[in-house]
Amino acid sequence: MHGVGHHGGRIGGDAFTFTTPHVRFGDGVARAIDDVLARAEVQNPLVVTDEGVEAAGVLDPVLESITGDPLVHYATTEPSTADFDALPTDAADGVVAVGGGSCLDTAKVVATLLAHGGDAAEYLGVDTVPGRVAPLVAIPTTSGTGSQATQTAVLTHDGIKRGVSDEYLRPDYALVDPTLTFGLPASVTARSGFDAFVHALESLTARDHRWIDPRPITYQGANPVSRSLAREALVQVHGAIERATFDGDDRDARRAMSLGSHLAGTAFSASGLGIVHALASALGGLVDAPHGDCLAASITAGLTYNLPVRRDAYASVARLLDLDDPASTRNGASALVDECDRLRRSLGLPTGMDDLGFDRADVDEIVANTLVQERRLPTNPRRAGDDLQAHLIEMEFDG
Ligand SMILES: [Fe+2]
Repeated sequence: MHGVGHHGGRIGGDAFTFTTPHVRFGDGVARAIDDVLARAEVQNPLVVTDEGVEAAGVLDPVLESITGDPLVHYATTEPSTADFDALPTDAADGVVAVGGGSCLDTAKVVATLLAHGGDAAEYLGVDTVPGRVAPLVAIPTTSGTGSQATQTAVLTHDGIKRGVSDEYLRPDYALVDPTLTFGLPASVTARSGFDAFVHALESLTARDHRWIDPRPITYQGANPVSRSLAREALVQVHGAIERATFDGDDRDARRAMSLGSHLAGTAFSASGLGIVHALASALGGLVDAPHGDCLAASITAGLTYNLPVRRDAYASVARLLDLDDPASTRNGASALVDECDRLRRSLGLPTGMDDLGFDRADVDEIVANTLVQERRLPTNPRRAGDDLQAHLIEMEFDG
Protein backbone atom coordinates (compact mmCIF):
# COMPACT_ATOMS: atom_id res chain seq x y z
CA MET A 1 0.00 0.00 0.00
CA HIS A 2 1.05 3.57 -0.52
CA GLY A 3 1.26 4.32 3.17
CA VAL A 4 -1.26 6.71 4.56
CA GLY A 5 -0.41 5.16 7.90
CA HIS A 6 1.88 6.30 10.62
CA HIS A 7 4.97 4.84 9.02
CA GLY A 8 4.70 6.50 5.63
CA GLY A 9 5.26 4.57 2.44
CA ARG A 10 8.17 3.43 0.36
CA ILE A 11 9.85 6.36 -1.34
CA GLY A 12 10.41 5.40 -4.96
CA GLY A 13 12.87 6.98 -7.34
CA ASP A 14 10.26 8.94 -9.29
CA ALA A 15 10.57 12.71 -9.15
CA PHE A 16 7.78 14.90 -7.85
CA THR A 17 7.39 18.63 -7.34
CA PHE A 18 5.49 20.61 -4.75
CA THR A 19 4.48 24.27 -4.81
CA THR A 20 2.94 26.52 -2.18
CA PRO A 21 2.41 30.25 -1.77
CA HIS A 22 4.36 32.11 0.87
CA VAL A 23 2.20 31.59 3.93
CA ARG A 24 1.61 33.60 7.06
CA PHE A 25 -0.73 31.93 9.53
CA GLY A 26 -2.09 33.19 12.84
CA ASP A 27 -4.33 35.65 14.63
CA GLY A 28 -3.98 39.08 13.08
CA VAL A 29 -1.70 38.24 10.15
CA ALA A 30 -4.11 39.93 7.71
CA ARG A 31 -2.99 43.22 9.24
CA ALA A 32 0.48 42.62 7.82
CA ILE A 33 -0.89 43.30 4.35
CA ASP A 34 1.08 46.52 3.86
CA ASP A 35 4.36 44.74 4.51
CA VAL A 36 3.40 41.95 2.11
CA LEU A 37 2.42 44.44 -0.60
CA ALA A 38 5.78 46.17 -0.19
CA ARG A 39 7.59 42.85 -0.61
CA ALA A 40 5.52 42.14 -3.70
CA GLU A 41 6.35 45.65 -5.00
CA VAL A 42 2.68 46.56 -5.39
CA GLN A 43 1.93 50.26 -5.24
CA ASN A 44 -1.70 50.34 -6.28
CA PRO A 45 -3.55 47.21 -5.16
CA LEU A 46 -7.02 46.35 -6.34
CA VAL A 47 -8.97 44.76 -3.48
CA VAL A 48 -11.33 41.99 -4.63
CA THR A 49 -13.99 41.13 -2.06
CA ASP A 50 -17.74 40.68 -1.86
CA GLU A 51 -20.57 42.52 -0.17
CA GLY A 52 -21.16 39.78 2.40
CA VAL A 53 -17.57 39.99 3.59
CA GLU A 54 -17.84 43.76 3.85
CA ALA A 55 -21.17 43.58 5.72
CA ALA A 56 -19.67 41.08 8.20
CA GLY A 57 -17.02 43.68 9.12
CA VAL A 58 -14.21 41.42 7.95
CA LEU A 59 -12.98 43.70 5.18
CA ASP A 60 -12.36 46.73 7.40
CA PRO A 61 -9.29 45.47 9.28
CA VAL A 62 -7.61 44.69 5.96
CA LEU A 63 -8.52 47.99 4.31
CA GLU A 64 -7.38 49.89 7.41
CA SER A 65 -4.01 48.19 7.13
CA ILE A 66 -3.40 49.25 3.54
CA THR A 67 -1.73 52.64 3.14
CA GLY A 68 -3.71 54.90 0.84
CA ASP A 69 -7.13 54.37 -0.58
CA PRO A 70 -7.22 51.18 -2.63
CA LEU A 71 -9.73 50.47 -5.37
CA VAL A 72 -12.33 47.85 -4.45
CA HIS A 73 -13.96 45.38 -6.86
CA TYR A 74 -16.96 43.35 -5.69
CA ALA A 75 -17.10 39.71 -6.78
CA THR A 76 -20.39 37.91 -7.27
CA THR A 77 -21.14 34.75 -5.28
CA GLU A 78 -21.19 32.70 -8.51
CA PRO A 79 -18.56 34.39 -10.69
CA SER A 80 -19.10 34.15 -14.44
CA THR A 81 -16.93 35.10 -17.39
CA ALA A 82 -19.20 38.10 -17.99
CA ASP A 83 -18.36 39.67 -14.62
CA PHE A 84 -14.98 41.11 -15.57
CA ASP A 85 -15.90 43.79 -18.08
CA ALA A 86 -15.78 46.82 -15.78
CA LEU A 87 -12.41 46.22 -14.13
CA PRO A 88 -10.23 49.28 -13.48
CA THR A 89 -7.36 47.45 -15.15
CA ASP A 90 -5.18 50.48 -15.86
CA ALA A 91 -4.97 51.74 -12.31
CA ALA A 92 -3.87 48.60 -10.43
CA ASP A 93 -0.59 46.69 -10.33
CA GLY A 94 -1.56 43.92 -7.91
CA VAL A 95 -4.56 42.19 -6.33
CA VAL A 96 -5.58 41.59 -2.71
CA ALA A 97 -8.40 39.07 -2.39
CA VAL A 98 -10.46 39.05 0.81
CA GLY A 99 -13.26 36.51 0.91
CA GLY A 100 -14.44 32.96 0.41
CA GLY A 101 -13.63 30.59 -2.43
CA SER A 102 -15.61 32.36 -5.14
CA CYS A 103 -14.02 35.67 -4.28
CA LEU A 104 -10.49 34.23 -4.32
CA ASP A 105 -11.24 32.53 -7.63
CA THR A 106 -12.46 35.83 -9.06
CA ALA A 107 -9.24 37.50 -7.92
CA LYS A 108 -7.12 34.92 -9.77
CA VAL A 109 -8.86 35.84 -13.00
CA VAL A 110 -8.57 39.54 -12.21
CA ALA A 111 -4.81 39.16 -11.71
CA THR A 112 -4.62 37.37 -15.05
CA LEU A 113 -6.51 40.12 -16.85
CA LEU A 114 -4.38 42.83 -15.20
CA ALA A 115 -1.26 41.21 -16.62
CA HIS A 116 -2.42 39.88 -19.97
CA GLY A 117 -5.67 41.67 -20.87
CA GLY A 118 -8.28 40.04 -23.05
CA ASP A 119 -11.49 38.40 -22.01
CA ALA A 120 -12.02 36.04 -19.05
CA ALA A 121 -13.48 33.35 -21.35
CA GLU A 122 -10.17 33.12 -23.24
CA TYR A 123 -8.52 31.56 -20.20
CA LEU A 124 -10.98 28.73 -19.56
CA GLY A 125 -9.27 25.37 -19.56
CA VAL A 126 -5.80 24.18 -18.67
CA ASP A 127 -2.47 25.96 -19.19
CA THR A 128 -3.98 28.92 -21.03
CA VAL A 129 -2.26 31.72 -19.11
CA PRO A 130 0.77 32.90 -21.11
CA GLY A 131 2.97 34.01 -18.20
CA ARG A 132 3.14 35.48 -14.71
CA VAL A 133 -0.03 37.24 -13.56
CA ALA A 134 -0.20 40.40 -11.41
CA PRO A 135 1.02 39.86 -7.82
CA LEU A 136 -1.78 38.22 -5.86
CA VAL A 137 -2.27 38.16 -2.08
CA ALA A 138 -5.10 35.89 -0.93
CA ILE A 139 -6.79 36.34 2.44
CA PRO A 140 -9.46 33.67 3.07
CA THR A 141 -12.46 34.52 5.26
CA THR A 142 -13.85 30.97 5.43
CA SER A 143 -12.23 27.63 6.33
CA GLY A 144 -13.13 25.55 3.32
CA THR A 145 -11.94 25.63 -0.28
CA GLY A 146 -8.30 26.38 0.38
CA SER A 147 -8.38 28.41 -2.84
CA GLN A 148 -5.65 30.67 -1.41
CA ALA A 149 -3.24 27.78 -1.94
CA THR A 150 -4.42 26.40 -5.28
CA GLN A 151 -3.84 27.01 -8.98
CA THR A 152 -7.47 26.85 -10.13
CA ALA A 153 -10.52 29.08 -10.40
CA VAL A 154 -14.11 28.03 -11.08
CA LEU A 155 -16.13 30.31 -13.36
CA THR A 156 -19.56 29.94 -14.91
CA HIS A 157 -19.56 30.32 -18.69
CA ASP A 158 -22.78 30.05 -20.72
CA GLY A 159 -24.49 28.63 -17.65
CA ILE A 160 -21.94 25.83 -17.09
CA LYS A 161 -19.32 25.72 -14.34
CA ARG A 162 -15.88 25.66 -15.94
CA GLY A 163 -12.38 25.88 -14.61
CA VAL A 164 -9.23 27.84 -15.24
CA SER A 165 -6.24 25.76 -14.14
CA ASP A 166 -2.77 27.11 -14.49
CA GLU A 167 0.24 27.17 -12.19
CA TYR A 168 0.44 30.95 -12.75
CA LEU A 169 -2.88 31.33 -10.90
CA ARG A 170 -1.46 30.20 -7.57
CA PRO A 171 -1.39 33.21 -5.23
CA ASP A 172 2.03 34.57 -4.31
CA TYR A 173 1.03 35.09 -0.68
CA ALA A 174 -1.62 33.51 1.54
CA LEU A 175 -2.43 35.36 4.75
CA VAL A 176 -4.44 32.83 6.75
CA ASP A 177 -5.90 34.74 9.70
CA PRO A 178 -8.27 32.69 11.88
CA THR A 179 -9.76 35.84 13.46
CA LEU A 180 -11.48 36.58 10.15
CA THR A 181 -13.53 33.38 10.58
CA PHE A 182 -14.58 33.95 14.21
CA GLY A 183 -18.01 35.24 13.25
CA LEU A 184 -18.94 32.71 10.55
CA PRO A 185 -22.47 31.33 10.88
CA ALA A 186 -22.85 27.64 11.81
CA SER A 187 -24.22 26.60 8.40
CA VAL A 188 -21.25 28.11 6.54
CA THR A 189 -18.82 26.61 9.07
CA ALA A 190 -20.32 23.14 8.59
CA ARG A 191 -20.53 23.22 4.79
CA SER A 192 -17.19 24.81 4.04
CA GLY A 193 -15.57 22.71 6.77
CA PHE A 194 -16.94 19.52 5.26
CA ASP A 195 -15.39 20.55 1.94
CA ALA A 196 -12.02 20.87 3.71
CA PHE A 197 -12.56 17.48 5.37
CA VAL A 198 -13.14 15.81 2.00
CA HIS A 199 -10.16 17.63 0.46
CA ALA A 200 -7.92 16.19 3.17
CA LEU A 201 -9.38 12.69 2.95
CA GLU A 202 -9.36 12.44 -0.85
CA SER A 203 -5.89 13.97 -1.07
CA LEU A 204 -4.48 11.58 1.53
CA THR A 205 -5.91 8.52 -0.23
CA ALA A 206 -5.46 9.69 -3.84
CA ARG A 207 -3.70 7.55 -6.44
CA ASP A 208 0.06 7.72 -5.91
CA HIS A 209 2.00 10.00 -8.26
CA ARG A 210 4.07 7.07 -9.49
CA TRP A 211 0.98 5.61 -11.19
CA ILE A 212 -0.16 8.77 -12.94
CA ASP A 213 0.90 9.88 -16.39
CA PRO A 214 2.27 13.43 -16.36
CA ARG A 215 -0.57 15.91 -16.92
CA PRO A 216 -0.40 19.55 -17.91
CA ILE A 217 -1.89 20.67 -14.60
CA THR A 218 -0.25 19.94 -11.31
CA TYR A 219 -2.81 17.37 -10.07
CA GLN A 220 -0.13 14.71 -10.17
CA GLY A 221 -1.26 12.22 -7.57
CA ALA A 222 -0.33 11.94 -3.91
CA ASN A 223 3.32 12.29 -2.99
CA PRO A 224 5.12 12.23 0.35
CA VAL A 225 4.72 16.00 0.86
CA SER A 226 1.03 16.13 -0.01
CA ARG A 227 0.33 13.12 2.22
CA SER A 228 2.11 14.72 5.18
CA LEU A 229 0.03 17.86 4.85
CA ALA A 230 -3.22 15.99 4.15
CA ARG A 231 -2.70 13.81 7.22
CA GLU A 232 -2.25 16.85 9.47
CA ALA A 233 -5.17 18.62 7.76
CA LEU A 234 -7.45 15.65 8.36
CA VAL A 235 -6.58 15.45 12.05
CA GLN A 236 -7.12 19.20 12.54
CA VAL A 237 -10.41 19.41 10.63
CA HIS A 238 -11.88 16.19 12.00
CA GLY A 239 -11.05 17.24 15.54
CA ALA A 240 -12.54 20.73 15.24
CA ILE A 241 -15.38 20.82 12.71
CA GLU A 242 -18.18 19.95 15.14
CA ARG A 243 -16.87 22.23 17.90
CA ALA A 244 -16.49 25.15 15.45
CA THR A 245 -20.00 24.54 14.09
CA PHE A 246 -21.81 24.16 17.41
CA ASP A 247 -19.82 26.74 19.35
CA GLY A 248 -18.69 29.51 17.01
CA ASP A 249 -16.87 31.16 19.91
CA ASP A 250 -14.50 28.21 20.32
CA ARG A 251 -11.43 29.99 19.04
CA ASP A 252 -9.13 26.99 19.19
CA ALA A 253 -11.56 25.10 16.99
CA ARG A 254 -11.70 28.05 14.57
CA ARG A 255 -7.90 28.13 14.40
CA ALA A 256 -7.74 24.39 13.76
CA MET A 257 -10.27 24.73 10.93
CA SER A 258 -8.35 27.64 9.48
CA LEU A 259 -5.06 25.76 9.48
CA GLY A 260 -6.57 22.43 8.47
CA SER A 261 -8.49 23.82 5.50
CA HIS A 262 -5.39 25.65 4.31
CA LEU A 263 -3.19 22.54 4.55
CA ALA A 264 -5.87 20.49 2.79
CA GLY A 265 -5.96 22.98 -0.09
CA THR A 266 -2.19 22.95 -0.32
CA ALA A 267 -2.14 19.14 -0.36
CA PHE A 268 -4.87 18.57 -2.94
CA SER A 269 -3.46 21.21 -5.27
CA ALA A 270 -0.61 18.73 -5.78
CA SER A 271 -2.33 15.36 -5.38
CA GLY A 272 -5.71 16.03 -6.94
CA LEU A 273 -8.96 14.69 -5.53
CA GLY A 274 -11.21 11.76 -6.35
CA ILE A 275 -14.61 10.33 -6.97
CA VAL A 276 -16.39 12.02 -4.06
CA HIS A 277 -15.64 15.36 -5.71
CA ALA A 278 -16.49 13.99 -9.16
CA LEU A 279 -19.89 12.79 -7.92
CA ALA A 280 -20.50 16.05 -6.07
CA SER A 281 -19.72 18.10 -9.18
CA ALA A 282 -22.16 15.96 -11.16
CA LEU A 283 -24.87 16.52 -8.55
CA GLY A 284 -24.08 20.24 -8.35
CA GLY A 285 -24.54 20.53 -12.10
CA LEU A 286 -28.02 19.02 -11.89
CA VAL A 287 -29.46 20.76 -8.83
CA ASP A 288 -28.82 24.11 -7.23
CA ALA A 289 -27.14 22.96 -4.02
CA PRO A 290 -23.97 24.16 -2.26
CA HIS A 291 -20.72 22.25 -2.91
CA GLY A 292 -20.52 21.10 0.72
CA ASP A 293 -24.03 19.65 0.55
CA CYS A 294 -23.22 17.78 -2.66
CA LEU A 295 -20.08 16.35 -1.06
CA ALA A 296 -22.01 15.18 2.00
CA ALA A 297 -24.57 13.49 -0.26
CA SER A 298 -21.80 11.73 -2.21
CA ILE A 299 -19.32 10.66 0.43
CA THR A 300 -20.65 7.21 1.33
CA ALA A 301 -21.15 6.16 -2.29
CA GLY A 302 -17.71 7.48 -3.21
CA LEU A 303 -15.76 5.91 -0.35
CA THR A 304 -17.45 2.52 -0.72
CA TYR A 305 -16.73 2.55 -4.46
CA ASN A 306 -13.03 2.90 -3.66
CA LEU A 307 -13.11 0.38 -0.82
CA PRO A 308 -11.79 -2.59 -2.86
CA VAL A 309 -8.52 -0.72 -3.51
CA ARG A 310 -8.29 1.36 -0.32
CA ARG A 311 -9.34 -1.01 2.47
CA ASP A 312 -5.95 -0.86 4.20
CA ALA A 313 -5.59 2.87 3.63
CA TYR A 314 -9.03 3.61 5.11
CA ALA A 315 -8.26 1.39 8.09
CA SER A 316 -5.08 3.37 8.54
CA VAL A 317 -7.04 6.64 8.45
CA ALA A 318 -9.45 5.20 11.02
CA ARG A 319 -6.49 4.58 13.34
CA LEU A 320 -5.13 8.06 12.64
CA LEU A 321 -8.48 9.56 13.72
CA ASP A 322 -8.80 7.23 16.73
CA LEU A 323 -11.99 5.69 15.34
CA ASP A 324 -11.09 2.08 15.95
CA ASP A 325 -13.04 0.40 18.68
CA PRO A 326 -11.79 -3.18 19.09
CA ALA A 327 -14.90 -4.04 21.10
CA SER A 328 -17.29 -3.28 18.27
CA THR A 329 -17.71 -4.10 14.61
CA ARG A 330 -16.93 -0.47 13.85
CA ASN A 331 -13.30 -0.98 13.02
CA GLY A 332 -10.96 -0.99 10.10
CA ALA A 333 -12.12 0.63 6.89
CA SER A 334 -15.80 0.47 7.86
CA ALA A 335 -15.08 2.63 10.90
CA LEU A 336 -14.02 5.43 8.55
CA VAL A 337 -17.05 5.02 6.28
CA ASP A 338 -19.35 5.01 9.31
CA GLU A 339 -17.65 8.07 10.77
CA CYS A 340 -18.16 10.09 7.59
CA ASP A 341 -21.85 9.22 7.72
CA ARG A 342 -22.07 10.14 11.39
CA LEU A 343 -20.29 13.42 10.74
CA ARG A 344 -22.64 14.57 7.96
CA ARG A 345 -25.64 13.75 10.17
CA SER A 346 -24.16 15.54 13.15
CA LEU A 347 -23.53 18.65 11.02
CA GLY A 348 -27.05 18.66 9.60
CA LEU A 349 -25.83 18.06 6.03
CA PRO A 350 -27.53 15.85 3.42
CA THR A 351 -27.22 12.15 4.23
CA GLY A 352 -27.59 10.81 0.71
CA MET A 353 -28.47 11.72 -2.84
CA ASP A 354 -32.19 11.41 -2.12
CA ASP A 355 -31.82 14.31 0.32
CA LEU A 356 -31.03 16.52 -2.68
CA GLY A 357 -34.13 15.30 -4.51
CA PHE A 358 -32.53 12.62 -6.68
CA ASP A 359 -34.13 9.24 -7.32
CA ARG A 360 -33.35 6.09 -9.26
CA ALA A 361 -34.41 7.64 -12.56
CA ASP A 362 -31.50 10.10 -12.24
CA VAL A 363 -28.74 7.49 -11.96
CA ASP A 364 -27.86 7.38 -15.68
CA GLU A 365 -27.36 11.12 -15.78
CA ILE A 366 -25.39 11.23 -12.52
CA VAL A 367 -23.06 8.47 -13.75
CA ALA A 368 -22.59 10.05 -17.19
CA ASN A 369 -21.83 13.45 -15.66
CA THR A 370 -19.41 11.86 -13.18
CA LEU A 371 -17.42 9.84 -15.68
CA VAL A 372 -16.58 12.96 -17.71
CA GLN A 373 -14.83 14.65 -14.75
CA GLU A 374 -11.33 14.62 -16.19
CA ARG A 375 -9.96 16.86 -13.46
CA ARG A 376 -10.93 14.44 -10.68
CA LEU A 377 -10.98 10.86 -11.90
CA PRO A 378 -7.35 10.31 -13.00
CA THR A 379 -6.24 10.80 -9.38
CA ASN A 380 -8.99 8.63 -7.90
CA PRO A 381 -7.47 5.44 -6.52
CA ARG A 382 -9.90 3.22 -8.48
CA ARG A 383 -10.46 3.58 -12.20
CA ALA A 384 -14.10 4.62 -12.47
CA GLY A 385 -16.19 2.91 -15.12
CA ASP A 386 -19.63 1.64 -15.96
CA ASP A 387 -19.82 -0.41 -12.77
CA LEU A 388 -20.38 2.89 -10.98
CA GLN A 389 -24.02 2.68 -12.04
CA ALA A 390 -24.80 -0.57 -10.20
CA HIS A 391 -22.87 0.73 -7.21
CA LEU A 392 -24.90 3.93 -7.01
CA ILE A 393 -28.19 2.06 -7.33
CA GLU A 394 -27.16 -0.30 -4.55
CA MET A 395 -25.82 2.38 -2.21
CA GLU A 396 -28.25 5.22 -2.82
CA PHE A 397 -31.45 4.10 -4.49
CA ASP A 398 -32.19 0.49 -3.56
CA GLY A 399 -35.47 0.19 -1.69
FE1 LIG B 1 -14.09 20.87 -2.71
